Amino acid sequence: METPSSPSCGAAPIDSESEADQVTRSERTAVYPGSFDPITLGHDDIVRRSLKLVDRLIVTVAYTATQVKQPLFEVRERVELLERVYADEPRVEVSSFQGLLVDFARSMSAPIIIRGLRAVSDFEYEFQMALMNRSLWPEIEVIFMAPASQYTFLSSSLVREVARLGGRVADFVPPVVLDALIERVGPSVAGE
Ligand code: PNS
Repeated sequence: METPSSPSCGAAPIDSESEADQVTRSERTAVYPGSFDPITLGHDDIVRRSLKLVDRLIVTVAYTATQVKQPLFEVRERVELLERVYADEPRVEVSSFQGLLVDFARSMSAPIIIRGLRAVSDFEYEFQMALMNRSLWPEIEVIFMAPASQYTFLSSSLVREVARLGGRVADFVPPVVLDALIERVGPSVAGE
């Protein structure tokens, strides 16, 4: 005869639940890490799609990005831009982190990493990072999301380059980012 405290139908007892199971039981939280220099409409597309899968999404800017190219915005500025883009989205939290991504994810009780995969060319780097992250925290899960097809060629580094060289990037970034780019590099980014 089953007592009220005993597990039913062979389910694992609470005290043997994994750390990840415990944190996902109540609320499913994921981190979406990146350089976000600056956030593009491709990133935004991934954020919106991710919100269909998780309850809470932490969009976080890495101080310790593995592939840093000439930055256009400081980390603090990138965080401010993200905060403005998601000001009306209560399920999105914006932050930054130093050090290892898995340490940050664990500290936020977020056992899911979201990454966008635009093309096969992204795959090798992303796959290496996913497996390294899993070897550092075995309970982490990585979800690769495909963006809308019109953003598959889009990257922050291309936006930075085009903007710096006086090209129009108005179709590729959220309006608050366009305003910041106009201020930083001039009105040509808006096509004016
Ligand atoms: O937008 P990016 O530059 O492609 O993002 C890369 C990022 C920030 C996700 C990656 O560089 C990262 O996770 N940096 C944190 C440091 C870390 O954990 N490095 C080990 C990765 S396996």
